[in-house]
Formats: sequence, C-alpha cells, structure tokens
Amino acid sequence: MALVALTGATGFVGSALARFLMQRGDRVRLLHRSEAPPFALSQGSMWVRGDLDDQAALDRVVDATDAVVHCAGAIRGATAAVFQHTNVTGTKNLMNAVSRQPMVPYLVVLSSLAAREPQLSHYARSKQDEEQVVAQSGHAAVVLRPPAIYGPGDKSLADLFAFLQRGWCPMVGRGRFSLLYIHDLLEAIAVLLQQRPCGVMALHDGREGGYGWADVAQAAQSVLGRRVRCFRLPDNLVRVLAACNTALGRLRRADPLFTTGKARELLHADWVCDNAAILAACSWQPAWPLARAMGAMWGQQGTQGMP
Ligand SMILES: NC(=O)c1ccc[n+]([C@@H]2O[C@H](COP(=O)([O-])OP(=O)(O)OC[C@H]3O[C@@H](n4cnc5c(N)ncnc54)[C@H](OP(=O)(O)O)[C@@H]3O)[C@@H](O)[C@H]2O)c1
Repeated sequence: MALVALTGATGFVGSALARFLMQRGDRVRLLHRSEAPPFALSQGSMWVRGDLDDQAALDRVVDATDAVVHCAGAIRGATAAVFQHTNVTGTKNLMNAVSRQPMVPYLVVLSSLAAREPQLSHYARSKQDEEQVVAQSGHAAVVLRPPAIYGPGDKSLADLFAFLQRGWCPMVGRGRFSLLYIHDLLEAIAVLLQQRPCGVMALHDGREGGYGWADVAQAAQSVLGRRVRCFRLPDNLVRVLAACNTALGRLRRADPLFTTGKARELLHADWVCDNAAILAACSWQPAWPLARAMGAMWGQQGTQGMP
C-alpha cells in the first residue's frame, strides 16, 4: 500500500485517479483549492488545502510520500500568462517541494501530446516548457503525453459524445488523432507507480494510426446500432468562432476553453501518437478502444463490431 500525492485532484483526471488509487488500497494526499474538500476519502487519506503557488501546502502534500502524480494544469485561458503561471511556474514550485524531501518521491507528470507542437497554442508551449522544468529538476520522473482523454466527468469532449449518441458526428479538421479512455490512463499510471520507469512517453488506446472522423462515426454506429451522420464544420467558421470566443473571454476576464490556439490545435493534421516507449518501459497494455469505451459510457455492453 503506497502513499501517493496528487495535484489536480478536483479535475477530470485527478479525481478519477484519486478514487481509483483508493479502490486499489493506496492512500492518497490530495491538493485542493476549493472551499470544502470535494469528496470523501478512505481511511489514511487526506486533503491539503492550497494551490501550486503555496509552497507550504505543496510541502505538506508531498511530505513522506512514495510518489507524486501531477495532474493539476491550466487547460483553458486566453493568454500565455495563464498557462505559464500554472503549468510552468506551478510545476517549478512542485519540483522545489519535491526537492526538499529527504527521500525524493517518484514523479508522474501529466503533460500532453500538445507539447509536441508548441507553436500551435499558449497551452502547447506551456506543456513543452513544463516538461523542461521536470527534466531540469533531475528527479526520477515519467512525463506522460496523452492525446485527448475522455470518459465520465470529462467536459472537453462531452459535447462531441453527446452529438454522437444522438446520431451526429461533427467533423472539425481533416486530421487523424489518437484517443485515450480514462480507464486506460488510470491503469497505465497504476503500472507506472509500481514499475517506476523514467522518460517522456505518449500513450493511446491501442489503435495504431489513430482515428479519422469517419472511424469515430463508424464506432458510434456500431455501438448504437443505427446510422450516424457526419457534418463538417468549415475550417474558417471554426477560426472565426474561436476568435470571437477568445475576444469575449478577454473582455469578461474569463478563461475560455475554445480559443484561437485551441482552433489551431483542432485543425492540426496529425495528433497520432505511438505507444512504443511506454510498452517498452512497463507492462501496461491498453484495453479500451473507442467502441468499447462508448459502449461503457452509453450503458450498452456486448456491442457488435468493435474496432
Ligand atoms: N483532459 C484531456 O483531454 C487531457 C489531455 C492531455 C493532457 N491533459 C493534461 O492532464 C492534466 C489534467 O487535465 P484535466 O482534464 O483533469 O483538467 P481539469 O479537469 O481542468 O483539472 C485541472 C485540475 O488542476 C487544478 N488546478 C488548476 N490550476 C491550479 C493551480 N494554480 N493550483 C492548483 N491546482 C490547480 C484544478 O483545480 P480546480 O478544480 O480548483 O480548478 C483541477 O483540479 C492537465 O495537466 C492537462 O494538461 C489532459
């Protein structure tokens, strides 16, 4: 039974991981910045209130832990400063807290496949910079580069899956992309925590060559057992809507998800990744291709024609 510190434990990935680790019998120490602790914990686990700017809270959260999983991150925002502050300075602060430990815990850091294309967006740039911070720390760490992650609790792709479930597939861009269901990510992190390899690793659901929109529509069709119709959002419309939403976000001083940078990410032709490094480094195997995951999310088991 390990003691694992988690940042971002109130988010999509972090909250799923916290519950998963507790179900496996691990104890968790979770950073939160909300008023009240968001969910109940198992015995031996605890919440620590604070954020990535709060060195005392970071010291408390990593203290005497076996491992730290860094899931906190800014994924929405209209300016470079928003992403640099959380993803780069915040990660530096966490590395400093880890460095102060007499026994330095093993680190799992959630970067993103976006780090491969830093020119596309402030988010992508900050993720590449975050990876450099981890590398410069010199600590034993695995940096994960997931593609789009989806599953229960995700907000970013929830609209897409709602459309698909109603029989419509909105196509944005003409590129191909890898995907990752949350269960595969959780299993991968559990294996990494046990086997402790180091390095930068992408990971996907096992579909070599990724998906195109026609593959996504076909997977949904096989699960629903009825036709899924595709419709294309013109690239220029995506750009214009993103520009309007970015401007609105700046006016309202809000942090929008759909920005000009996000539009460039969405229209990018190649978000296909490769499992070679992670498969060579540990014994994880992906088990949730898209149709199986759709079946689980939509409550339809035993579906035909899973890819
Ligand atoms: N979801 C994806 O498709 C995807 C794909 C690739 C990589 N990733 C990476 O995976 C990580 C987790 O993503 P997610 O989808 O779970 O995001 P999310 O749902 O937005 O969760 C982000 C988490 O980070 C916390 N956080 C943000 N800024 C913070 C700060 N300054 N101090 C402390 N905590 C802070 C949030 O706390 P509050 O609840 O208080 O806001 C929340 O718990 C991120 O690093 C993201 O870049 C995600």
